[in-house]
Amino acid sequence: MTTTPQPAAPAEQDPANLPRGRVFSGVQPSGLPHVGNYLGAFRSYIAMQERHDAIYCIVDYHALTSTHNGELIRQNTHEMALGLLALGLDPERAVLFRQSDRPEHTELAWLLSSVVPVSWVERTPSFKEKRRSQPEDINHALLTYPVLMAADIAIYLARYVPVGKDQQAHLELTREIVRAWNARYGDYFVEPEAVFNDSPIVRGTDGANKMSKSLGNVIDIFAEPDVIRRQVMSMVTDTERIRRTDPGRPEVCNVCQLHRYFSPLEFEEIWEGERTARTGCVDTKRLLADRIIAFFAQARERRRELSERPGYVEEVLRAGAERLEPLARETLGVCHDRMGLGPIAR
Ligand code: TYM
Repeated sequence: MTTTPQPAAPAEQDPANLPRGRVFSGVQPSGLPHVGNYLGAFRSYIAMQERHDAIYCIVDYHALTSTHNGELIRQNTHEMALGLLALGLDPERAVLFRQSDRPEHTELAWLLSSVVPVSWVERTPSFKEKRRSQPEDINHALLTYPVLMAADIAIYLARYVPVGKDQQAHLELTREIVRAWNARYGDYFVEPEAVFNDSPIVRGTDGANKMSKSLGNVIDIFAEPDVIRRQVMSMVTDTERIRRTDPGRPEVCNVCQLHRYFSPLEFEEIWEGERTARTGCVDTKRLLADRIIAFFAQARERRRELSERPGYVEEVLRAGAERLEPLARETLGVCHDRMGLGPIAR
């Protein structure tokens, strides 16, 4: 019997301690940020803005692949930007912008797409997954999605891309695309490195699937405390722990796994309580809800303050996009030269 080769587990790095370089990452405007976004990616964004030249983007062009409600995309883009700022993204240190304010991304995606064999994008796991989850809307942009993602990163010649481990295949494809372009037109683009922190792909409240807005299994960061509590209390724990007296298995229990991050000083003790059945799942969930609510209390307060400043988020996004214009134009200029676009004498 043959087995499909599994991709190697992604190598983890400490995002705060890498040699200096340009950082780029993007997030879809899918509504309020959730705990999976934070653990997998946002805390790395914030750690990396300290020492690096960091650029973060709300990818509204990408959102068009799955959402066709214009008002919702616009609102969610604003909401995601507000959330990132409240969590500590500092516009004095890092650039935060809206993808569609820099339309050069879509032009570069077109240019890069000319070196991408169709088979590369057809085999992307996210495309296969979307084919299953939205069979009535397999639009062309879904196929191009990873090429636009490569363009997002390549246009700023970014070296580091802090992302959750669910993005591993996309980052590998980005590297392949950049290599293919460089091989054809001469070295120019940087092969970006994915930066994975110590978080796994965070499972949702169903305990089985990746935490994701579209699956409705999220723990929100900015919801009211009683909503967060309800979400945490609905979490599936160790499905083999039937009776209160059965020993639990913290290694498989999603609630215990989250305690690792939200109760860093005592998660081992919490795990021991589960293993020995000294504590029940309900107690462990209650504690997790308290911890998550407390962990994000300051950010929630900050979000409230920022949302009372009219025009603030829009101003940050506008200034961010403006700062990036020369960089984006320079990259396109090099592409035009090498690829033969534009007039004979430049
Ligand atoms: P998106 O919007 O799905 O997620 C944004 C970031 O959050 C991380 N993340 C998770 N990490 C761990 N566990 C989870 N359950 C979880 N859910 C989300 C993601 O890994 C991501 O880092 N294709 C990207 C957006 C994108 C992009 C880019 C990223 C477009 N262009 C260029 C980096 C560079 C996406 O859909 O992320």
